[in-house]
Amino acid sequence: MNTAAVEPTLPMQSENFPVALIPRISIGIFCDNQQTGQTLQAASVDRRMSRAHVSIQLGGIAAAIQVHQTEPTPNVLVVESHADRNSIMAELASLAEVCQPNTKVIVVGHVNDVILYRELIKNGVSEYLVAPISAVSFIETISSMYNDPKAAPLGRIVAFVGSKGGVGSSTIAHNVSWAVSQKLQLETIITDLDLSFGTAALNFNQDSGGGIFEALGQPDRVDATLIDRLMTKLGNKLSLLNGPGGIEREMNIEAHSVETVLNVVRHAAPLVVVDVPNLWAPWVKYTLLSADEIVITATPELPSLRNAKNLVDLLKASRPHDRMPRLVLNQVGVPKRPEIPAADFGKALGIQPTAIIPHDPQNFGLAQGNGQMVFEVAPKSKSAELLYNLSEVVAGTQKPVKAASRFGLPGLMKNLPMMKKK
Ligand SMILES: Nc1ncnc2c1ncn2[C@@H]1O[C@H](COP(=O)(O)OP(=O)(O)OP(=O)(O)O)[C@@H](O)[C@H]1O
Ligand SMILES: [Mg+2]
Repeated sequence: MNTAAVEPTLPMQSENFPVALIPRISIGIFCDNQQTGQTLQAASVDRRMSRAHVSIQLGGIAAAIQVHQTEPTPNVLVVESHADRNSIMAELASLAEVCQPNTKVIVVGHVNDVILYRELIKNGVSEYLVAPISAVSFIETISSMYNDPKAAPLGRIVAFVGSKGGVGSSTIAHNVSWAVSQKLQLETIITDLDLSFGTAALNFNQDSGGGIFEALGQPDRVDATLIDRLMTKLGNKLSLLNGPGGIEREMNIEAHSVETVLNVVRHAAPLVVVDVPNLWAPWVKYTLLSADEIVITATPELPSLRNAKNLVDLLKASRPHDRMPRLVLNQVGVPKRPEIPAADFGKALGIQPTAIIPHDPQNFGLAQGNGQMVFEVAPKSKSAELLYNLSEVVAGTQKPVKAASRFGLPGLMKNLPMMKKK
């Protein structure tokens, strides 16, 4: 029997490879094992699965056959089996008799058998996953089945939010976007969701265009062409979708409008930096919970710590399969101000700061006054260096840990994506 040894694999790095949202499909799961049931239950409440309707029951292929003798099969049918190759093929032949032709079938098996894999695919099974599987790899599998591989790759959405007003979240988001696009040469779009008071246009010395207002006001009309028209070019590889920067117009923002707009914007560039205002509303919560990554900027003071802790606790609880938010401590070292030491701040949140940026009114003030970035007015400053390091982290261009050699992934397994997933 041509079985390959089961190798431990890296957990899915969802922060570096964004997973598209699963559409509004029905997914029926028939597990044969409690552990798989728990994992898929956890997957079903993940942010990327929130639109899908998922039902999970025990009983494996036999139960699926029984249930679907009278009920139509869902869009995706997931069946688990502990059986060997021949028994699985026989059971699936019976399942095929009750399965709707357009239902996609995923088999979760317990044998890492290349021949079985090939036979399943030949017989119309969409994927074969070897148990134990992880929630994120399961989500990724479903997502890839509904995502056109020829579509433009998905950009990562990185939401920047301040732990209170005026901590410097927008300034940091703009500087990071500038460095990622100009120095790291990664196409970046800044989306300023601070509609009335946003500073993106000011900080880049541009007239406010207000494009995002138009997009959020008519989400059904939003497509790549409209977004392209509404964006302001800030330079090579850097664009801005901004608010009107005024208080003449009012709008109730809906979470679904933000979702629609960001889902179009993320097809236009590999990195979408979203400037989220410091306020609490359903759409703000949605934006944070659905981002691929979150950067919380805080100043080393008590109110900032309390708010950051609340945000981190919410994000940790609601996004169990995502990486922790990143913490930037900003404006550290204001003369005569008592401050919470960075280590204590990090300890209280359970995350150490990714960057600690000093209070540097001279360079930040000059940059703001000129409508330029800190990199442009003070390229050799400590602030510029720290902002650059943060940009590398956000862009994911830091040298990765030697993961492959750590796990000794054999080349064969790397070429069999579905078989290597755990
Ligand atoms: N490290 C720093 N040292 C000195 N000044 C800073 C620093 N970081 C940001 N600033 C200044 O702080 C002010 C507030 O910054 P910014 O508007 O980015 O904050 P914010 O958190 O986005 O605020 P808001 O809640 O209004 O959105 C700006 O004038 C900016 O130049
Ligand atoms: Mg701001």
